Amino acid sequence: MEKITVAAARKPESIGKVVKLQGWVRTRRDSKGGFSFIELNDGSCQGNVQIIAAAELPNYESVVKHLHTGASVTIEGEVKASPAAKQPTEVHAQRVELIGDADPETYPLQKKGHSFEFLREIAHLRPRTNTFGAVTRLRHQVSMSIHQFFHERGFYYIHTPIITSSDCEGAGALFRVTTLDPEAIPKVNGQVDYTQDFFGKPAYLTVSGQLQGEAYACALGKIYTFGPTFRAENSNTPRHLAEFWMVEPEMAFYELSDNMELAEAFLKRIIADALQYCGEDLKFFAERLENNQGLFDKLENVLNKPFQRLPYTEAVDILLRSGRSWEFPVAWGNDLQSEHERYLAEQHFRCPVILYDYPRTLKPFYMKVNDDGRTVRAMDVLVPGVGEIIGGSQREDRLDILEQRMQEQGLNPEGYQWYCDLRRYGTVPHSGFGLGLERTILFLSGLSNIRDVIPFPRTPGHAAF
Ligand code: 4AD
Ligand code: MG
Repeated sequence: MEKITVAAARKPESIGKVVKLQGWVRTRRDSKGGFSFIELNDGSCQGNVQIIAAAELPNYESVVKHLHTGASVTIEGEVKASPAAKQPTEVHAQRVELIGDADPETYPLQKKGHSFEFLREIAHLRPRTNTFGAVTRLRHQVSMSIHQFFHERGFYYIHTPIITSSDCEGAGALFRVTTLDPEAIPKVNGQVDYTQDFFGKPAYLTVSGQLQGEAYACALGKIYTFGPTFRAENSNTPRHLAEFWMVEPEMAFYELSDNMELAEAFLKRIIADALQYCGEDLKFFAERLENNQGLFDKLENVLNKPFQRLPYTEAVDILLRSGRSWEFPVAWGNDLQSEHERYLAEQHFRCPVILYDYPRTLKPFYMKVNDDGRTVRAMDVLVPGVGEIIGGSQREDRLDILEQRMQEQGLNPEGYQWYCDLRRYGTVPHSGFGLGLERTILFLSGLSNIRDVIPFPRTPGHAAF
């Protein structure tokens, strides 16, 4: 007997086959006609398959009539065309086996809808809900699209380190990695004696694989990293995590405009694949989430229109002329906040916007300084509903200016000698960017809290599971 998934059992091609299915009971309903309907789900798709279990089954009274929501079962039976309009097939059970029961008194996922806040508290069970099944399948598809997009274009996938001694973004939001006992820190002249620590010097969880990625781009041409990154920023917002996944392509012989083109093609590919392969899940998000009916229009619109490109300075002018009052004041030299980014993408341009040439004081040391001396070749991609989804730049490829920038930002050039070597020997113009995976899932699904698009979210005060 062929073992198939619920997704396969829902397809008309399966009609007539006798199959085995394994999954979890979503609901059971007993009909007066002497049989029961079991809605079975195994995570393979959004929909359930309806199992018809007749009273003639030998364990009908003892087992079938006591199947609870959440119980795991094996079903063997024949796939038949369903008379009901809502599903193409149903399975007429020849055997129903209970694998593991779920006590209805304590199983937290009962049929009624649960709030996202509640589901975060049971993050080990929430993948069994429609919403988190959909998020999980979408996240998987996006991850595959990322690898395929770069692989098809001749990029190499580089595994950059998770533990590092370099602070890429210079923002100081680093988690320390140490084996020193916090109760007995060794000190010399009042200073921590790092020679006794595991690495013999301070070490951290990486905030970005970019710097190491640059070393490989400046040898192999086009590379990307894709992995977890860590930021100890105390930002309790719906768009920040302390642990998130970032994709970072880095390309030698690339100017900022090449970088923008790649970023746009990359995002469009991710959207096109999600529409092609996750239609059922996106439809679920569009229908079930509040204020999300426009999801498909939003995605199609982003897919089919060119992104707007404009310098930071012009964006500031637009914001100043908007006649709006802002929570965070707008002025040249101030960082743009979510409210400003979203205004530009959602109200003013109504499409993704690539802002570039930011003030040098706002951006990290590695970004290439423009001839005006005041701005750097940074680019941020802003999308409706989320704001910044990509941050990137052309990199400073001139050794003297790079060293000057490190000094300006209070970085110790000693730790970055290897990075400077990339400019010292065979320097090339090069560029790259970072796309936040979770912000991408927020954008594609229309979900509003980043804690709901990663399996086990880590935020200030929360590292459960
Ligand atoms: O703009 P960021 O900080 O850029 C970098 O880290 C560069 N080193 C990337 C590069 O050029 N290779 O981060 C890039 C993206 C952001 O646009 C955002 O989507 C996401 O990473 N991101 C976060 N996502 C969730 N939680 C956080 N705390 C995030 N911080 C950044
Ligand atoms: Mg950024």
